[in-house]
Amino acid sequence: MGFISRGELQRLVEPDRVHRSVYVDPAIFDMEMERVFGRAWIYVGHESQVPKPGDYITALIGRQPVVMVRHTDGAIHVLYNRCGHKGAVVVGERCGNAKFFRCCYHGWTYKTDGSLLGVPLRTGYEGTSFDTTNAAFWMAKVPRVQNYRGFVFASLADHGLDLKTFLGTALSSLDDMVDRAPEGQLEIAGGCFRILQRSNWKIFMENLNDLMHPMIVHESSVEAARQQGREVAPGEPQPLVIKILAGNGEAYSFWERLGVTVDEHGHSFMGGIVSPRSNDPVFLQYVAAMEKNYGKERTEKILSVNRHNTIFYPSCSVQASFQQMRVIRPLAIDRTLVEVWNFRLKGAPEAMYQKTLLYSNVVNSPSSIVMPDDLEAYNRVQVGLGTAGSDWVSLHRDTGRDRPGSGETSAIGTSELPMRNQFRAWLRYMTAEA
Ligand code: FES
Ligand code: FE2
Repeated sequence: MGFISRGELQRLVEPDRVHRSVYVDPAIFDMEMERVFGRAWIYVGHESQVPKPGDYITALIGRQPVVMVRHTDGAIHVLYNRCGHKGAVVVGERCGNAKFFRCCYHGWTYKTDGSLLGVPLRTGYEGTSFDTTNAAFWMAKVPRVQNYRGFVFASLADHGLDLKTFLGTALSSLDDMVDRAPEGQLEIAGGCFRILQRSNWKIFMENLNDLMHPMIVHESSVEAARQQGREVAPGEPQPLVIKILAGNGEAYSFWERLGVTVDEHGHSFMGGIVSPRSNDPVFLQYVAAMEKNYGKERTEKILSVNRHNTIFYPSCSVQASFQQMRVIRPLAIDRTLVEVWNFRLKGAPEAMYQKTLLYSNVVNSPSSIVMPDDLEAYNRVQVGLGTAGSDWVSLHRDTGRDRPGSGETSAIGTSELPMRNQFRAWLRYMTAEA
């Protein structure tokens, strides 16, 4: 693995520009896997994916394949997906249910808390130091796991901030997401879109709060929506799909007003583009279910929040008002897997979930008329940064115009504050003592 000294890393990140090598140098990627993804809290999965004992999903934390599994006592464990014998990946499926895990190679079996259940030919181990009760032979537990209202995060580091402190200001977006469920619980529903991006993970992460790009990158889908919108009879409400698509075509002044808010761990969120609120019968039925459980005042308070993307640096992002989550799994310096998950609001009419799917299909699906335009832009950035035209990426916009608050900083929506803030966090992770 290439090694880049602290001093050299510091020279790559200036307050308002970054060196292109942070997106194209494989040695940087190796270090990120250890120092960013090996230290931060990383989203693994949602507890609704493992409702019963033995239910499991597999995931990646940086380069580490892991299994998130519900044990017989109901506890959720996150285990390294590695056999205690010769290291084979034990669980090959994306999800499933198992009474125990059996390695495909020599048949060692593990309980769903990772402890060793049995090995074939036990007699061969007699008189050796092998011991089934010694955790060195188990599927090891990831050092730290915490569940916040159903969202399970894990950290490969055995020390550091607790999850709530780490999530900071962004925590309120997870609350926003869960509070929208009349029964106060979410569940992942339907499948998952998986998008393999031919670009560095940070390009996607930055774009999630890039409010300068929608009217340019998404021009074609905005125009299509406007054309369709003109065909809606006067006095008739615009269909949701048109509102969502046309939202990207708002003027710069609209995006400035939305605002962005960041906090010290690299997280950030922006104001909402399209409100899910409407007077259609489905939404009114949903409001009635909310009011039944929360009362009028609390319901109003919950529904008056409207945020678009919230970034939980460095591993995921939610769009709370349409129950979307995107999970970022970097695979290589120029390869990033993004997963798109949809949540059902427990206690809400089924038709609300259909709106969630509509949003996902219109905006986040790789076959939508929105997402591929972003992908083209990410790929062009990746290709361009690999060339010799210049060594620097500009993050200058609205530098020096931030509005510091208590524990958070905000700016007009078109500011590049979220990107500058991500790189401040990045540099801290990359240069911190272990
Ligand atoms: Fe798993 Fe041998 S590598 S049992
Ligand atoms: Fe976009």
